[in-house]
Formats: sequence, C-alpha cells, structure tokens
Amino acid sequence: MITTRAAVLNEIGTPLELTDIRVDDPEPHEVRVSVTHVGLCHSDLHYRTGTVPTALPVVVGHEVAGVVEAVGSAVTSLSPGDRVTGALTPSCGRCVNCEAGHSTQCTRLDEVRLRQRPAFETVDGRPIERLAAIGAFSQHILLRENALVRLPDDIPLHVGCLLSCCIVTGVGAVFRGAQVRPGSTVAVIGCGGVGSAIIQGARLAGASAVVAIDLDDDRLKAARAYGATHVINGGDGDPVAELRRQLGEGVDYAFEAVGSARTAETALALLRPTGTACLVGIAPMGTELTVPALDFFFEEKRLIGSYMGSGQAREDIAQFARLYQQGRLMLDEMVTRVIPFAEVNEGFELMSSGDVTRIVVDLQA
Ligand SMILES: NC(=O)c1ccc[n+]([C@@H]2O[C@H](COP(=O)([O-])OP(=O)(O)OC[C@H]3O[C@@H](n4cnc5c(N)ncnc54)[C@H](O)[C@@H]3O)[C@@H](O)[C@H]2O)c1
Ligand SMILES: [Zn+2]
Ligand SMILES: [Zn+2]
Repeated sequence: MITTRAAVLNEIGTPLELTDIRVDDPEPHEVRVSVTHVGLCHSDLHYRTGTVPTALPVVVGHEVAGVVEAVGSAVTSLSPGDRVTGALTPSCGRCVNCEAGHSTQCTRLDEVRLRQRPAFETVDGRPIERLAAIGAFSQHILLRENALVRLPDDIPLHVGCLLSCCIVTGVGAVFRGAQVRPGSTVAVIGCGGVGSAIIQGARLAGASAVVAIDLDDDRLKAARAYGATHVINGGDGDPVAELRRQLGEGVDYAFEAVGSARTAETALALLRPTGTACLVGIAPMGTELTVPALDFFFEEKRLIGSYMGSGQAREDIAQFARLYQQGRLMLDEMVTRVIPFAEVNEGFELMSSGDVTRIVVDLQA
C-alpha cells in the first residue's frame, strides 16, 4: 500500500478536496499507474453535481494517461516505464457480448471489477469509491491490464489522455455506433470534447456535410476547425428549421452530445426519412424521451445509443492514435488549457465557458 495525493468528492455539489489517500497494491491482473494527465469530461461533472448518482466519498476522473509504475504477478503485456492511456471499458473477453464484439456491454463487468480489498482508502482506513472503478484524480491509480493501451513515444501524455474518453466515445460513435457512410450528411448537437470528436469522426468517415449545433459561438468556431461545414446556434431559433434551410432536407445521421431529453428529441427531428439518431450524451437519471411514433414506420427513422465508442476500445484507441500520428485526427487543438492539479475545481468552472474544448489537469504540476 502507498500513500498518494487525490482530489476527493466528499459531498455532492461541493468542491473536490485535495488530500492524501491510500492506494492498495496491484492484484495479479492489475497495474499501478502514476497518473500524469486527466481530461475534464462532462461525465465527471454529472457525478459532482449529482445528476448521476454515486456513493461517497468518491474520486472522479477517468480521461487518463500516465506511466506504469508497478505490475501485478499475472501482467504480461505491460512493464514499469510504459506510457499508457485508459481503455475504460474492461471486459471478460468470454461472455456472449464480448464474443460478439460488443465489449462495452460485457455481462460480467461486476466480476471483472471485483477486488478483494478497496483500491482507495482514507488515511484512517475508510473505503473511497472510484468513478467507473478508475478514480483518475489521484496521482496513483489501479487499472486492470486490459483497461490500458500503450502509447507511442511521439504522442504526448497531455493529449494522449483524450483518446481514453472523448475520442474513443465520439469517433467510435461514428464508426462503430452509427456506422456513418461516405457522402452522407451528419449533424452534431453539442460541440464540447465529445461533440468535437464526433465532428472529426464524421470528417474522417467522408461525410459530405457536417452541421455543428451548439449554443455558444466560440464552440461553433472551433467546430469548423474540426471539420464542420455548417454551423447553427441553437439559441437563435429552431435548429430543425435552420438545418433544413441550410441543407434543403434533413440529415442522414444526427448525434446528440449534450445529455438532455430536448436535444435527443431534436436529434430525431433533424433526420431525413431513414436517418439514424445516435444518443451519446448522458441525460440525468430518470430522464424519459417523448418521440413521435410515426417517425419510425412512415419515415423508417432509427434511434440508437452509443456508449464509450460501442466497440473494442483497445484496438480502436491504437487505431485512433495512428490517425493522430498521421495528422488526420486533431488532438493538440482540442486541449485548450493544461492546468495544475491544485486548480482542478477551477477547471470544472472553466468547462462551462465557451472558449474551451477540453481542459486537461497535470497531476504532477
Ligand atoms: N456515451 C458515452 O460513452 C459518453 C462518454 C463521455 C461523455 N458522455 C456524455 O456526453 C456529453 C457531452 O460531454 P462533453 O464532455 O463533451 O461535455 P462538454 O461540457 O464539453 O460539452 C457540452 C456542449 O454542449 C453544448 N450545449 C449545452 N446545451 C446545449 C443545447 N441545448 N443545444 C446545443 N448545444 C448545447 C455546450 O455549449 C457544450 O459545448 C455529457 O452528457 C457526457 O456525460 C457520454
Ligand atoms: Zn468521459
Ligand atoms: Zn464479457
């Protein structure tokens, strides 16, 4: 067991407390990672504000990169010193969903994540929860070997962390979730970290039009740099009418990357007949959708969801890393600011200002 520094959420709606915690030794299949960088994802904010319930105290943070420090006795593919990013949907590899290639829907996830002892404890021995069994706002974390991907040397860790959540989620939703076809038209509602990755995925997929929709003009300006061909400020009126005015008809694919019933319903309304709406944003617990039934049979629309890129995260992250190396996936541009660990709470405040795509926290600074 070691003692390290972590940012702990003790009560919903309060700032994270930077404090010492204890981290258990790695179990046979686990790796202890010295965390260098963590991107601030809106999902962390959901736990902090209570829109997604969690046990307390908890260490949030999951968009993670760092360096392997110690490995459990059964670990074969990683060694101390390896630079890594997270593949945050570990899986058993053997259940019916894993065998079918849907590892994000592993039916044995609880078993896979089960530990003999709590991974994190307070210095006086009380257990601390970890968001998604990760808890990245800690200078040391424990992850299963199959929840990590080695990063090539020319990918800096402060951009490599994005691969583990917003990139695999957004680009994966395009390729694996909705399976966007070349030449088709795409709309993206919400142009934060995840939405910007969806826009880039649509560009890489060869979409002939990519319409970015947000409430903030700075985010829309950035969206153009990531590949949007059209932009709509959703606060200026009806985005459905405006999209039809700009394109002449609805889109083949509409992605929702905000997390609300209203924007999910808008995604369906943006489609032309036979189009697919893909929900990626995480709506508050208990949210229900009201959608017109006629859309599904007379217009053959489809409504789907995509979680963490709907696929084989380790393989996909390695591929997306190569797209970055080839200059085809923009990661540096997405990191608006790197802030020191002590400013993590201010980082969450900055997230809601328009001129940021991703804030990354440097845990060693
Ligand atoms: N499905 C998954 O696996 C997965 C993974 C990561 C994040 N998420 C979820 O995706 C969502 C987006 O995450 P993020 O980190 O990109 O958030 P973010 O805060 O960086 O971006 C959200 C964007 O939505 C915009 N927005 C807010 N209300 C809007 C509206 N009514 N119309 C248009 N735009 C609006 C904001 O201006 C902002 O640009 C969150 O709900 C998050 O929890 C899902
Ligand atoms: Zn995330
Ligand atoms: Zn499985």
